[in-house]
Formats: sequence, C-alpha cells, structure tokens
Amino acid sequence: MTQITVHRILPMAKRFLAKVVASGDAVIDATAGNGNETRYLAELVGDAGCVYAFDVQQEALAATAQKLGPLQSRVKLIHDGHENVLQYVKHPIAAATFNLGYLPYTDTGITTKAQTTIQAINAILQSLKCGGIITVSVYEGHDGGAESSALLAALSQLEQSVVHVARYELINQRNNAPYLLLLEKLK
Ligand SMILES: C[S@@+](CC[C@H](N)C(=O)[O-])C[C@H]1O[C@@H](n2cnc3c(N)ncnc32)[C@H](O)[C@@H]1O
Repeated sequence: MTQITVHRILPMAKRFLAKVVASGDAVIDATAGNGNETRYLAELVGDAGCVYAFDVQQEALAATAQKLGPLQSRVKLIHDGHENVLQYVKHPIAAATFNLGYLPYTDTGITTKAQTTIQAINAILQSLKCGGIITVSVYEGHDGGAESSALLAALSQLEQSVVHVARYELINQRNNAPYLLLLEKLK
C-alpha cells in the first residue's frame, strides 16, 4: 500500500497532537461534536490524564459520551461555550483542538463564531504550557468565510516571540477545502 505523506487536515491535526501530548497530560477539545477528536485525545492522555471537552449542544455531548465508552472516565464533558474555558480548566494544558463549523448531518443552525472562537483561543493560550499547541481546523463554507477571515486577522497579530502560528493546507482541492492552523507557545 502507498504510504501517505501529505495528509488531509484532520489526520494532520491528529499527528501534531500525538507529537506533543503525553500520558498524564491535561488537554482540551474545544468543539466536541460527535467526539472523534475527544476520543483520540482520551487515548493519548491515558488513565492518568484528563480531556476537557466543550460543546454548547447537549446532543453533541451525548454523542461524544457514546463514542468514548469506557474512556469517558478520562474526560470532563462540559456543556458550555469554549469562550468560558478558564472557568473550568485550572491546570496547565499540553494541547487544545478546535474543529470549526457545524456538526455534520444536523440542522440546528448552531455553528462556531469568530468572536467566541478568538476569545477561547486567547484564553487557552494563557493556560498552555511552553511547547504546547493548539490545532484549529477551519472551514470557510458555513458562513461565507467570515469566521476564517476574522480568525486569520486576529491570529496574525499574536506576538511572534510568544507564539508561532502556521497554516497548513492542500491547495489543489475543490469546494472550500478546509485548512489547518497550528499555534505553538514558545514562552
Ligand atoms: C464541526 S463540529 C465539531 C466536530 C467534532 N470534532 C466531531 O468529532 O464530530 C463543531 C462543534 O462546535 C460546537 N460549538 C459551536 N459553538 C461553540 C462554542 N462557543 N463552544 C463550544 N462548542 C461550540 C457545535 O455545537 C458543534 O458540535
């Protein structure tokens, strides 16, 4: 079988997370949704670690709980907006992940929004360890690119001696392909 080197966005985000998250770490899934990334993080942190998983939709947290099965003991499911993250997370954290847009296959109209996403990223940066990362998978289709534009404008202003912000994308994809933002805290 051919070995893939240029990964799509979500597998690439997972690879970055796997590189920095160790057993026993505290981490955040800021957009739990159906729980795919929550489960992946729960596997990475092990029994001694903790995943804080946020979603504003109770149905999403129920789907995440189901996806976790016995791994739920490693996860705190939080029914609140990620912009309130510092009310819940008191430990230094190793990593956080965001998957922006709508929960697929639902018609609730609930989607992430620029203002609260930026507020959450700034808050998480305060509790992120040096060398810790935030991955943000960004889709432009859900709101005509408004959240994406506001996010790029805000993150490009972050102080470069404190945080590196990189963008990873496949440039030959059709139909509003997502891209990945990767933030690494330097000090
Ligand atoms: C694209 S989905 C996430 C997909 C998820 N990673 C999965 O595995 O299914 C985005 C999720 O963000 C949630 N969301 C929207 N605004 C939010 C907020 N302010 N705080 C936390 N979650 C939010 C939505 O309810 C939705 O479930």
